[in-house]
Amino acid sequence: MKHLLTIEELSAAEIGEILRLAKKLKAARGQAARALPLQGHVWALIFNKASTRTRVSFEVGIRELGGATIYMSSSELQMGRGETVADTACVLSRYLHGVVIRTYAQRDIEEFARFGTIPVVNALTDDEHPCQILADLFTVEEKLGELKGKKVVFFGDGACNVSNSWLFAAAKLGMKLWIAAPQGFQPSAALVKRAGDEVCVTEDAIAAASDADVLYTDTWVSMGKEGEAAERLKKLMPYQINEAVVHAAKRGAIVMHCLPAYRGKEIAASVFEAHQQTIFDQAENRLHAQKAILTLLAGH
Ligand code: CP
Ligand code: NVA
Repeated sequence: MKHLLTIEELSAAEIGEILRLAKKLKAARGQAARALPLQGHVWALIFNKASTRTRVSFEVGIRELGGATIYMSSSELQMGRGETVADTACVLSRYLHGVVIRTYAQRDIEEFARFGTIPVVNALTDDEHPCQILADLFTVEEKLGELKGKKVVFFGDGACNVSNSWLFAAAKLGMKLWIAAPQGFQPSAALVKRAGDEVCVTEDAIAAASDADVLYTDTWVSMGKEGEAAERLKKLMPYQINEAVVHAAKRGAIVMHCLPAYRGKEIAASVFEAHQQTIFDQAENRLHAQKAILTLLAGH
């Protein structure tokens, strides 16, 4: 693996390798004789959007693997004054061993990867959130066992980065993905086709929940969409994960949320509280999954 830019370009075998290594790294965390595949490395985190989990779990993960980190936003770089992504990638590749980027346009991280010579990790763009979905898959496997055949239902903004990455992951791993979302918040036909036409898209949240193993949601107002907040809240309210939705799912279904959560909006407070152990395990697993990604990118 040279970069992690999308789930779309990962094979099922590569995903399997990441999940197996994440499990090993989770078990080995804190042991004295741990591997240091990033020893002597310096990785930059270039973040143009807010972050709690991704930033901190990458900084901790890189350090636990023996490396050092530099955190910055594009506005602190000359990119903020118009230097091209390509020139930035060429120059930073002379100093750094890898870069983790959170930004708006997917094409910017792809351009960085094309012009640079170091591994690039997508830490969220408007199109995809691959690190999140790899940690989610690890969590589903940890909680429910084999991924193949499991039914995952994504509720709410079914056209966001997190649902897009789920679309590709589910198709590759033989999982059944349903998206419960209103018109205007469903994945485009072109994207569904690209992901292998496996997803079921519906406007009926309760019908979607039927027989589900995993109920999943994300904020209704992704970063960059704040101007549409009022309209989104109105249109997406019927897609809240609440007691009725949980009741319609399989007994023992897990509830997941990539966080940050807005209780009373995409998830009822009572449902969040009842399932917070899973949700916070899911957040912790970002660290283990990303350490696996970094280890593989470093060629170990
Ligand atoms: N889930 C997630 O990516 O969280 P942050 O935005 O806090 O990094
Ligand atoms: N879809 C959300 C994910 C946050 C981790 C966003 O892009 O803001």
